[in-house]
Amino acid sequence: MQLFLLLCRVVMVVAVTGCHRDRDKDHRPRENCTAAGFSTVPVGLDSTTKVLLFPKNLFSSLSWASFQIFDEIYEIDLTENKVPEVTPSGTPILPTLSVLRLGSNRLTFLPDGSFSACPALTELYLENNAIDSLSNHTFSGLDKLEILDLTSNRITVLPALMLHPLPAIETLYLENNKIRVMPDNWFSQKEEVPYLYLSANPWACSCSLDYLRRYLDDYELNVYVRDGPDIKSDADSVVCDSPHWHQGKPVMSLEESDLCSSSTELGPSGDFHQPSHPATQRTTTPATPVTATSSPPISPPPTLSTVSVELYTVYHRVVTWSWYQTFTSLIEWSDHSGSLDTRTEEPSAVCT
Ligand SMILES: *[C@@H]1O[C@H](CO)[C@@H](O)[C@H](O)[C@H]1NC(C)=O
Ligand SMILES: *[C@@H]1O[C@H](CO)[C@@H](O)[C@H](O)[C@H]1NC(C)=O
Repeated sequence: MQLFLLLCRVVMVVAVTGCHRDRDKDHRPRENCTAAGFSTVPVGLDSTTKVLLFPKNLFSSLSWASFQIFDEIYEIDLTENKVPEVTPSGTPILPTLSVLRLGSNRLTFLPDGSFSACPALTELYLENNAIDSLSNHTFSGLDKLEILDLTSNRITVLPALMLHPLPAIETLYLENNKIRVMPDNWFSQKEEVPYLYLSANPWACSCSLDYLRRYLDDYELNVYVRDGPDIKSDADSVVCDSPHWHQGKPVMSLEESDLCSSSTELGPSGDFHQPSHPATQRTTTPATPVTATSSPPISPPPTLSTVSVELYTVYHRVVTWSWYQTFTSLIEWSDHSGSLDTRTEEPSAVCT
């Protein structure tokens, strides 16, 4: 009895204020230091801890080395901190780390090899940051990664080879970003991703999106949306944002001809919506404001004063082929030249 009391005393002395020790559902020793005001790993935590929870703390940097004393570390949760960047490492500093949670931090950019310090990651959570660019090599070395959550960031471009280092990927969250185009053969390294979340992106339904359209046709049942913990299969959640006449339509509901006829109207190279060449398009497009060249005869272009009136209604009524072409050309030209306030309620045709 005395010994028991003594042990209790020792444990209480060692316990770190703000943290409490328990076990996770798989009985791993865990320290829960939620909302305890820490900006670094406190001293005194048991080095056999496998799960370290620091959500809602004040970490303003992520030092891989500061977790090195936990030599069997399995999970680190830094959700809702102020981490602005992650630092690539030449060596695997945390070779046992499997789950890393960095949601709701201040990340804006993930350099090549961002997670090389922890090559055994199976789950990586990066939702609700401000990540606006990724590279082909951001996730290199993560050959065990199964879950990657990039929900609610500001990603505009999917690097062509981004998935190549991820042969084990099973769940990929990309909802609520600013993605317009999926590179051709983006999934070529691992065709089937069983849980794929692509909704709430401004998909640009031009010819460049034909790869995604075909992919959705093949893997329709793998496309999901989630609402809290509930998920449901919903391939129709991937909808066009532009051009106007496809806005709101599920990408899957379109045919190749729908996508490709749009793009020939919109841009000389068929990739008007590809955000990667804005400079070229800005300089070349205004030089040829009216690019309609295909067969149906075109009625005389309206004068500029009629344009603003027509633009309010043109998308809500049935228009003839030639009207489409005339307006498309005018809108495209005016968006790029900035010389006409078209007020089309649709900013997405501008490449910014
Ligand atoms: C950690 O502790 C907080 C209270 O301090 C609690 O709300 C939270 O559910 C705990 N986390 C886990 C995963 O048990
Ligand atoms: C990714 O790699 C491809 C193919 O090598 C290259 O064309 C592309 O520019 C790279 N993208 C980025 C964002 O680095």
